[in-house]
Amino acid sequence: MGRPNLQIALDNSDLPTALAAVSAVGEIVDIVEAGTVLILQVGDESVKCLRALFPEKIIVADTKCADAGGTVAGNVRKAGANWMTCICSATIATMKAAAKEVEQIQVELYGDWTYELAQKWLEAGITQAIYHQSRDALLAGETWGEKDLTAVKELIKMGFKVSVTGGLEVETLKLFEGIDVYTFITGRGITGADNPVQAATEFKNEIIRIWGE
Ligand code: 5RP
Ligand code: MG
Repeated sequence: MGRPNLQIALDNSDLPTALAAVSAVGEIVDIVEAGTVLILQVGDESVKCLRALFPEKIIVADTKCADAGGTVAGNVRKAGANWMTCICSATIATMKAAAKEVEQIQVELYGDWTYELAQKWLEAGITQAIYHQSRDALLAGETWGEKDLTAVKELIKMGFKVSVTGGLEVETLKLFEGIDVYTFITGRGITGADNPVQAATEFKNEIIRIWGE
């Protein structure tokens, strides 16, 4: 079992605050994400800036693409993204078209996906999935628990590299001890902290404490 990556999600509503946030913590994290909120506000300019700041890091464009996969993926690749997300309700054709343009596609699991559908993504060559607690579910009072751990383990057993995200706090990570999580994706847990550098360091240290170097 490897050490999970730490990914920062930049869901800022403007580019200057996103760049200020990532300038402080970018070197601590493994992967940098142009978040859906940021991409909807400023488009692929956000990806271009992140690529310029971090030439060597994996950059994810969290487009949650539902259609026109090839075009969207081609655009974010040209801007500098390595990976791009597709929403789980997108067709296999959309995912395959997107997968031709970027290094990897990640399927964002929201709503009523099934393991049967997940098997089809694997058969289409898509091996990354992102297991979410949505902001709105968390606001409605949901918390991380057994049902989430069961789903994450099942997806890993099927052969997916599974990233976990949604309102993560440092204390949440220990729930996943013993599970081969690929990446923990954190937005507000770092960007909304009083001291983002300290918060990113605490996330990183907790991952190392649980999964080792
Ligand atoms: C929501 C996302 C977010 O980028 C991701 O869940 C991280 O956000 P936070 O840690 O702030 O909940 O893709 O759809
Ligand atoms: Mg995101």
